[in-house]
Amino acid sequence: TAPYSLLVLPGDGIGPEVMAEVVKVVDWFQANRGMSFDVSHDLVGGSAYDTHGVPLADETMAKAQQVDAVLLGAVGGPKYDDLDFSLKPERGLLRLRKEMDLFANLRPAQCFDALADFSSLKREVVTGLDILIVRELTSGVYFGEPRGIHDDGNNPENEGGRVGINTQRYTSGEIRRVARSAFELAKRRGNKVCSMEKANVMESGILWREEVQWVHDNEYPDVELSHMYADNGAMQLVRNPRQFDVIVTDNLFGDLLSDAAAMLTGSLGMLPSASLGAPMENGRPKALYEPVHGSAPDIAGQGKANPIACILSFAMALRYSFDQGDAAAELERAVEKVLADGARTADLMGPEGGTPVSTSEMGDRIVAALSTRT
Ligand code: NAD
Ligand code: IPM
Ligand code: MN
Repeated sequence: TAPYSLLVLPGDGIGPEVMAEVVKVVDWFQANRGMSFDVSHDLVGGSAYDTHGVPLADETMAKAQQVDAVLLGAVGGPKYDDLDFSLKPERGLLRLRKEMDLFANLRPAQCFDALADFSSLKREVVTGLDILIVRELTSGVYFGEPRGIHDDGNNPENEGGRVGINTQRYTSGEIRRVARSAFELAKRRGNKVCSMEKANVMESGILWREEVQWVHDNEYPDVELSHMYADNGAMQLVRNPRQFDVIVTDNLFGDLLSDAAAMLTGSLGMLPSASLGAPMENGRPKALYEPVHGSAPDIAGQGKANPIACILSFAMALRYSFDQGDAAAELERAVEKVLADGARTADLMGPEGGTPVSTSEMGDRIVAALSTRT
């Protein structure tokens, strides 16, 4: 097949460490499954700032717009905490999401049986868990105007004299398109969508609820739809997570809820994500794949990072960008097998033990598990 173009942006902290393991997996699929990837590497986040003085160079942005898929490691770190807001590593990632218009962020949380005892919840609560959070990614309070930090005149009632402002803003169009993504995905899974907002306190939440209901009634009447306040949703997610199939929610609630969902699976180091835009001319969506976790400065450079979230993000790329669903499932099974065999990065070491492995040993084992499946 014609080569798929892939832009690899390892980023900062553990980003490059976990991405090195993904590259091994990419190479394996090229060598063993007749796939061909045209891979280019570039900088994002703090590493881009160090080289270019900005967290994402314009040339890198332009490249991202042209490739079939972007793979990103993680950005950020204490070294960059004092930078001007516009230069922070996180702005590089947000620019990619915004300019590629990647409005649907898919964050699946699946509990691998081998890790069920490692979840912070009881095995009975998480066994077989398979939920998908669809987070709106290009709007809401992350991008709404007005925003900023301002002087509050000489307001005598404001000690410190400053105001910080962000705006939660959603258009009906933005809500409808991400709702459609959620319903489409639900049709191929458990056929159930739960929409989360805070319609009890926010007008944007009322609009969210009405528009999701509208898309349901007009376009997906056969998918089961429920609505939940996001705070209750957080509680339900840890009380009985298996009640959910697909959750659709806004940018900020989705950020929080997906970190919480991550822990249900045992570790933040396990959770992949796909950020998808509207279909391009070739029928495939613009896409960026990245783990849910960050650059983990506390463990960076020590070979302790779990590469599975990033590797499973590549599995999502195989599925959503390259129409290689079988290859994606094969990779997911290889991960499952390695975990069942007891391989554990530090984040997965619990009382029940296992074989401690480094980041690169975990990658090697996954590649070896793939190789036994020819
Ligand atoms: P984090 O996700 O980096 O780390 C949270 C905790 O989880 C840490 O204890 C870390 O060691 C652990 N952890 C995370 N990923 C792991 C992995 N693969 N294997 C083992 N352990 C793992 O979140 P944070 O500490 O709040 O943020 C650190 C930096 O990362 C910040 O600059 C933040 O803005 C950035 N960040 C970036 C992204 C991204 O690039 N998508 C996401 C979240 C945070
Ligand atoms: C995530 C991260 C990002 C977010 C940051 C790093 C911009 O937490 O991908 O979940 O808040 O969206
Ligand atoms: Mn987050």
